[in-house]
Amino acid sequence: MILITGAGGKTGRHVIRALRERGVPVRALARGERIHELAEDGVETLAGDMLDASVLARAFEGVTGVVHIGPTAHQHEVAMGVAVADAASAAGVERFMLFSVHHPQLEHLVNHQNKARAEDYVVTARLPYTILQPMHYLQNIDPVDVVREGAVRLPYSMTTPLAFVDLVDVAEVCAKVLTEDGHRYATYPLCGSDYLGGEEIAAIIAEVVGRPIAAESVPLPVVLEFLGHGQTMGPYQRAFFSRLFSYYDDFGITGNPNVLRFLLGREPSTMSDYVRRSLAAGNPNDS
Ligand SMILES: NC(=O)c1ccc[n+]([C@@H]2O[C@H](COP(=O)([O-])OP(=O)(O)OC[C@H]3O[C@@H](n4cnc5c(N)ncnc54)[C@H](OP(=O)(O)O)[C@@H]3O)[C@@H](O)[C@H]2O)c1
Repeated sequence: MILITGAGGKTGRHVIRALRERGVPVRALARGERIHELAEDGVETLAGDMLDASVLARAFEGVTGVVHIGPTAHQHEVAMGVAVADAASAAGVERFMLFSVHHPQLEHLVNHQNKARAEDYVVTARLPYTILQPMHYLQNIDPVDVVREGAVRLPYSMTTPLAFVDLVDVAEVCAKVLTEDGHRYATYPLCGSDYLGGEEIAAIIAEVVGRPIAAESVPLPVVLEFLGHGQTMGPYQRAFFSRLFSYYDDFGITGNPNVLRFLLGREPSTMSDYVRRSLAAGNPNDS
C-alpha cells in the first residue's frame, strides 16, 4: 500500500491514476470535496490534515511507501514535509518519494526554497528517498479555455521562454520508480523538451485548431484575484505568486529533458502532443 499526501490536488490525482494503472494499492490523504471524488472513484481515502500527527499515524498504518506532495503556496509547507518524513521514519517505510521542484536552489522563489529545505530534511534523515523535481507543468495551461477564449493569457511576459513538463509523464515516472528497484537515494529533475514563450504557445494551439489564437499578458492584480477565487489572498500567498511571476517575467525557466527521456524510455510529450490530447479529452485534468 502506497500513501499519497496532498492527494486531492492536480499532481495527486495524476499520480493515483498512474499507480492504479499498474495495480498498486493506494491510500489517499486529502481534504475537502476532493476526498469524495476520490472515494467515488474507488480509492481508499483518509480525510485529515498533514500537520496532525494522529492523522499521519493512521495514514501510515500498513503502508510500505509514501509519495509526499506538499501544497503549492502554503507557509507551513516545510513543516508538512518534516511531519510526513518523521511519520514515515516511525513507520519504517521502504520508499519515500518527495515531490519537489526543478531548480530548488533558486533563492528568489519561495516555493523553491521550501522544497530545498524539505529535500535537506529528507536526505539528512536518510529515508529511502527518491526526489522528483518536476518542471512547470504543461497542465498549467488549459487548451480548452484558450480555444474558448481565443487567447493564451499568462501572468508574465509573452516573449520570455519557459520549459515545461507533462504531468502525465511525471506521474508515469513516479509509478515506474516506485515499482522498480534501483531508485533509492536518487534525485531526478524532470523536464520536457519545449522551451516556449506565450506567443509560441498561442501559435502551437492555433496550428492545432486551425484558427488564430492571441497571446496576452495579464496584470498581476487580476491574476491574484483569479487565483484567490475572488477572495483577497493572504500576504504569504500574494508574495509567493508575485515573486514567481516576476521571476518568470525576467528570467523564464530552463531545463533539459535527458533525465526524463532516460526514465520514460521514450521522448517526453511536447506542448503540441498535450494540446491535441487535452482538446480531444475536453479537459486537461483527464489528459
Ligand atoms: N504546478 C506545477 O507546475 C508544479 C511543478 C512542479 C512541482 N509542483 C509542486 O507539486 C506540488 C503539488 O502541486 P499541485 O499543483 O498538485 O498542488 P495542489 O493542486 O494545490 O494540491 C495540493 C493538495 O494539498 C492539499 N493540502 C494543503 N494543505 C494540506 C494539509 N494541511 N493537509 C492535507 N492536505 C493539504 C490541498 O488540499 P485543499 O485543496 O483541501 O487545500 C491540495 O489538494 C506542489 O508542492 C508544487 O509546488 C508543481
